[in-house]
Amino acid sequence: MPDLNGHEWWREAVFYQIYPLSYADSNGDGFGDLEGIMSKLDYLSDTLGVDAVWISPFYRSPMRDWGYDVSDHTDVDPVFGDLADAERLIDQAHARGLRVMLDYIPNHTSDLHPWFLDSRSSRDSAHRDWYVWRDPAPGGGPPNNWISVFSGPAWTLDAETGQYYRHTYLTTQPDLNWRNPEVIEAMTEVARFWLERGVDGFRVDAAHQMIKDPRERDNPPAPPDYERPWKEMGEYDDFIHLYDYGHPAVHEIYRGLRKVVDTYPQSPVTVGEVHIFDLPEWATYYGEHLDEMHMPFNFHLMATQWDSLRLRGTIEAVLWHVPAGGWTNWTLGNHDEIRLASRLGMANARLAAMLLLTLRGTPFLYYGDELGMRDVHIPHALKRDPWGEAVAHLNRDGARTPMQWAPGDHAGFTTGTPWLPVSQSHPEDNVDIELDEPGSMLNLYRRLLSFRRGSSALRLGSYLSHPSSTNQVLVFRREADRETVTVALNLSDEAVEVPLRSGKVAISTLDAGRSELVQELLELAPREGVIVTHT
Ligand code: NOJ
Repeated sequence: MPDLNGHEWWREAVFYQIYPLSYADSNGDGFGDLEGIMSKLDYLSDTLGVDAVWISPFYRSPMRDWGYDVSDHTDVDPVFGDLADAERLIDQAHARGLRVMLDYIPNHTSDLHPWFLDSRSSRDSAHRDWYVWRDPAPGGGPPNNWISVFSGPAWTLDAETGQYYRHTYLTTQPDLNWRNPEVIEAMTEVARFWLERGVDGFRVDAAHQMIKDPRERDNPPAPPDYERPWKEMGEYDDFIHLYDYGHPAVHEIYRGLRKVVDTYPQSPVTVGEVHIFDLPEWATYYGEHLDEMHMPFNFHLMATQWDSLRLRGTIEAVLWHVPAGGWTNWTLGNHDEIRLASRLGMANARLAAMLLLTLRGTPFLYYGDELGMRDVHIPHALKRDPWGEAVAHLNRDGARTPMQWAPGDHAGFTTGTPWLPVSQSHPEDNVDIELDEPGSMLNLYRRLLSFRRGSSALRLGSYLSHPSSTNQVLVFRREADRETVTVALNLSDEAVEVPLRSGKVAISTLDAGRSELVQELLELAPREGVIVTHT
């Protein structure tokens, strides 16, 4: 069983991301809230069986970027409840053995944060240097050619004081100046505030972007054949992000944060949102002496084509690059990406569930993926995401729609009008209905989670390549002291036979009743995945 009291509890945990605006609404205003999450803790700990939740931001915010624009880091936005609710949520989760990780958003604040209001009030204000202010370029215009992730220049002119401020994201998300020790101290206090309330760690937002080239050189334009490691990002893709991305000075900040975090008895974890796809560079976020992030988020699987050989290549390359003594994680969805079932289709989403929960490393699940929730088409008039305003195909609303609890009105999410439309598939794809169907996606996740809980090979064991892998089937073995399991995923549309040591089928992604003994050959139906145990 997982040792969630241990020093490195997060190695054995399965995390589940909650997007709080869309999880459960307790007061009928159409927005999810903390009381709503509290009402679902039994679902999380018992029905589903995850070990930890990552809750996206619920701090005070004008909601230009739906909470990723914080105007008070140590208070709860009224839409979610109040600070006492947050404290109760942490305690109630802990009472069920669930760990709680929060978002920590150091790169920027809201433009309505008192720090920024003071900063922009005059060139000599006490907080002026807490943000990045620059004079216009010699001929006028922004100081350099940097583009914001959400498109448009990364600099906005403040007419009153005649200088530009930098913003990696929206104009309403000014960048903090992490070269100022007062900023470091103030944001460290924010971390302490939540750690003292018992939180079990932080997912660090935009972790690779907080420090940029001190000379602020122009980024070179990207040639037309420039190979992007990640999805298309609109205007942001016009440049190679040499100078505004992944600057090495960021490592010192993480060493500092780690020192603070390590003094807390709950052994908090730090997971950095690091969108870096060069593996050696990505691995530097662990720190030279494993003294930075416990885990940089691993988005490599998400960036890999759904193809047996490519997936195997990514998995093995990631495992190879994790520094000795380090530990990785795996994810296939979050609030910024198209949902798993929409990207890959339902049959592959079932295989993906098995893959995520059997790899060596900590799995991160995204709320609703356990039901097979798909992206919802949002009519123009109901769009909420500012990124979608700038670049239509990057709208993230579709993956942020209300959790589907029940077949009735608004899927049991709210008694009011939901802030984003509920999926039309909710009468079939919801917790209540799926619990009653042995073959549902939810019951597949439950079986996989329960199996993983009881299997030290899956939680902590080694990963071994398997000679039966082909371009159709991905096969690997996991081994701990007295336990060996084989995972075989048929990614093709044909039935295949996989040569295998004898064993017993423990779980199939397609047939909830499958449990036969395997003698040398394992038969897999098209798009079927199977876990085999060996004695
Ligand atoms: C990454 C977050 O995941 C995303 O939702 C947000 O818009 C940006 N960082 C800015 O905070």
